Amino acid sequence: MLKFNTCTDIVDLPIDQKLILMKRSTYIIISIIVLAACGPQERVSKDVFDQVNNAMEAKKLSEAQITQEAMIWGDSISNEAQQQLMSSLHQAVEEKGYAGALEFCNVNAAPIVNDLSNKHGVEIRRTSFRARNQNNLPTEAESALLEAYQYNVENGIQSEPNIQKIEGGDVLLYTKAIVIPSEFCLACHGDSENEIEAGLLNKIDSLYPTDLARGFSVGNLRGMWSLKIPKKAVVNRL
Ligand code: HEC
Repeated sequence: MLKFNTCTDIVDLPIDQKLILMKRSTYIIISIIVLAACGPQERVSKDVFDQVNNAMEAKKLSEAQITQEAMIWGDSISNEAQQQLMSSLHQAVEEKGYAGALEFCNVNAAPIVNDLSNKHGVEIRRTSFRARNQNNLPTEAESALLEAYQYNVENGIQSEPNIQKIEGGDVLLYTKAIVIPSEFCLACHGDSENEIEAGLLNKIDSLYPTDLARGFSVGNLRGMWSLKIPKKAVVNRL
């Protein structure tokens, strides 16, 4: 049985457990891992705990049903966010070229995602070890999952989205790998010598002096979607 009690344990997920991310049918096993309790501020609120438990009992819901619903909701929200970002990005590239689109992403990527966060009441973000925007670097819990997705990509294993319990079980962390799908991304995230055009590279350097999001190829792990879904909101949907 997998069980980790401290945050440090989770960061060093052994390889066997990383492989667990490959199948959706097994995500429940990994969700036993206790990712929460990293600080006193994250202690479970008894009120929320009681409310969720009462609602679960009234509706006769099992933990498995809740995890499954969180997975369905997470898939739907992350697809919506992905589509909105991609259609805005494609439109910006068509209208303003890559350099103009870079500025568009710089100004609009975060607001687009934040609007969706507010709409659904779910904290949505993209995170990466090699982030362009430093705000997108992973938390400790996210790092363990990114490592697992990275392992799968490097070993040719298809990753499925994953659900983890965090913050004492009050929140479900939905994650989904973002793999570079096409050469379109490489104009801004490819090799700085021959794939990113010189003028564009200057712009990236001036807007993002600590940029790490270059040197990718098609099929590489670019990062992941990370959604903090309140358990209470999932129970309300059922
Ligand atoms: C026009 C240039 C451009 C193109 C094309 C582009 N990106 Fe980006 N990307 C950016 C910029 C700029 C940011 C930083 C946005 C911000 O400041 O929030 C970014 C950020 C990201 C992030 C968030 C993590 C980070 O590095 O901060 C991911 C994930 C990402 N891009 C994936 C992709 C994928 C996948 C594609 C292809 C489908 C793609 N990008 C195409 C410019 C681009």
